[in-house]
Amino acid sequence: MNGSHAAPARPAQSYRETYASWQADPDAYWLDIAKGIDWIKPPRQAFDAAAGIYGRWFPDATCNTCFNALDRHVRDGRGQQVALIHDSPVTGTKAKYTYAEMLDEVATLAAVLQDLGVGKGDRVLIYMPMVPEAAFAMLACARIGAVHSVVFGGFAAKELATRIDDAEPKVILSATCGIEPTRVVEYKPLLDGAIAMARHKPQACVILQRPQAEASMHAARDKNWRMLVAAAKATGRKADCVEVAATDPLYILYTSGTTGRPKGVVRDNGGHMVVLKATMDQLFDVGPGEVMFCASDVGWVVGHGYIVYAPLIQGATSVLYEGKPVGTPDPGAFWRVIAEHGVKVLFTAPTAFRAIRKEDPEGKYLAGHDLSRFRALFLAGERADPETLKWAEALLKVPVIDHWWQTESGSPIVGDPMGLGLLPIKHGSPTVPLPGWDVQCLDEGGRPVEAGKMGAIVLKLPLPPGALPTLWNDDARFREAYLTTYPGYYNTSDAGFIDEDGYVFIMGRTDDIINVAGHRLSTGGMEEVLAAHPAVAECAVVGIRDALKGEQPCGFVVLKAGVTQSPAEVERELVALVRERIGPVAAFKLAVTVNRLPKTRSGKILRATMKKIADGEDYAVPATIEDVGVLDEIGAVLKGRGLG
Ligand code: COA
Ligand code: AMP
Repeated sequence: MNGSHAAPARPAQSYRETYASWQADPDAYWLDIAKGIDWIKPPRQAFDAAAGIYGRWFPDATCNTCFNALDRHVRDGRGQQVALIHDSPVTGTKAKYTYAEMLDEVATLAAVLQDLGVGKGDRVLIYMPMVPEAAFAMLACARIGAVHSVVFGGFAAKELATRIDDAEPKVILSATCGIEPTRVVEYKPLLDGAIAMARHKPQACVILQRPQAEASMHAARDKNWRMLVAAAKATGRKADCVEVAATDPLYILYTSGTTGRPKGVVRDNGGHMVVLKATMDQLFDVGPGEVMFCASDVGWVVGHGYIVYAPLIQGATSVLYEGKPVGTPDPGAFWRVIAEHGVKVLFTAPTAFRAIRKEDPEGKYLAGHDLSRFRALFLAGERADPETLKWAEALLKVPVIDHWWQTESGSPIVGDPMGLGLLPIKHGSPTVPLPGWDVQCLDEGGRPVEAGKMGAIVLKLPLPPGALPTLWNDDARFREAYLTTYPGYYNTSDAGFIDEDGYVFIMGRTDDIINVAGHRLSTGGMEEVLAAHPAVAECAVVGIRDALKGEQPCGFVVLKAGVTQSPAEVERELVALVRERIGPVAAFKLAVTVNRLPKTRSGKILRATMKKIADGEDYAVPATIEDVGVLDEIGAVLKGRGLG
């Protein structure tokens, strides 16, 4: 590999100067940051406005993401530094991998994939718990130019099947189980069920047997992970890095859309590396040799970016934590990890802090832990409520930095850039747009709204490097879902406002997506499951307020005439059905039978009004309502359940 591999010095500029330098010349700005990446063919052109749907980044460059995450650090003398720490309170184990060891593991696994016929552009689906092999798997795909698609372990077989059919993986990498604090989640039956359901069949499944749940293997299809890796190690077989275009896909990550069919967000190789490098320097301020602890899951975009790729591209150390903020074993778990591994920055979702605060409101579990190397807590994934923020600030005595982004953006859009000098924090706001993002607030007619007034939060095109160029195999859906409502802008489907100081406030979604414990879920998808029950005539799912998880789904159902089952029995079946079809992560525990749903005269279900009733908020009776009496009926049913 050639190209410039000397990392540029940490930015000496302030936020305002940096943002202005991006505005003045975006191409020069991104080409400068691109110098922190080792390219095979370095970019001469930053952006090609004529390519792709809204343009493509680094169209003439070639690279390899795995090389940047591992090989170059070994080459540059970082081989003995720890790259990855696996800290697993649920299994009682810990392991550390240096960059050299990790490179060895990844290059070997990449060779195993090649031997199974996986090549550049082929898809590999990864359905794994928080074990080091999950990170090895992602990097092994990157190494050989294969496109990975990681599916979160909390999804059920049907969701997995949908993703298998969309991504059409040649090989699936999985493990026999994940471990939740109260139970072992057997993945193998879910995987077998998903493959049986799916139209597309993978050529092979490579299964990591875990001692907590050994699983039987499908003779013709399943391979034993450890045996394949051991055999490759015995012969010293390793795969080299394959040259890919910067615009080639690195991964597909499925995220909830407004229907049950998830959107396959595509991430490229070159732009992704460049933007992650920028955020490590400018936002998180984590440099080579420093330790980052991102308490998310590799199944989410946060985990892709900040457990695996960004810390490694930066030459830092990443903590891969297989546990929870509470209950593994107690609400001091994060403090123990921070102290033990010398963590500089913790990144998690606000819900994790609500959970800790609920169990340890006075922060007693912090006592005795040395947090002297800890510099900041970053929160994202859902709105950070000011009470939780203030509690965390008072307890930890470091900046608590809310930042906003989406699976689609691939990296933070709005944040308080610690690496450029923190701006004053306003509780409730993730602060300011990061360089590269032109964030605006528009009314329904697409006109800018005044400072402080609510509107649709949109991003002026082109999006910066690392943001999605399209949806997998579905340019039409990409255009329709994101680009048509406000021509010239990407519609985030988040509502909020921008104040007179340019601080952005994100208040909630404008579509049918809800956020449960930092997990993005589609109410439309849940409605499809409820509607499939033979006793259900019609239904509506809304996200109602939850003190711990932010929101929880609540399904209102109207039963068909003549149904002989009791409403309670149907409700129990519906809860079980959502768990079976979507998975435990949907956290669907509340089905409520009502006589009628409130509707407008044109038949539109008044979901927002139902949400307000359930949340106990004042609501205006919509002028177009068909029958106002339904609202009182719903209120009475909810009161009977202790809600509203
Ligand atoms: N595999 C299988 N099941 C899983 C799973 C996984 N990887 N992750 C979660 N689940 C299950 C849980 O066990 C739970 O099952 P249950 O209904 O039998 O209790 C269900 O899915 C819902 O999970 P969750 O909403 O996470 O609730 P919880 O009670 O288990 O934990 C928190 C609550 C707050 C501790 C937890 O949500 C958390 O740590 N959040 C951190 C934020 C985070 O990871 N965000 C990701 C984006 S940054
Ligand atoms: P995901 O794609 O799973 O990352 O979810 C993205 C959505 O989560 C956003 O569109 C927001 O609705 C919400 N979200 C993420 N971070 C924040 C934040 N800091 N403040 C408010 N909402 C957030």
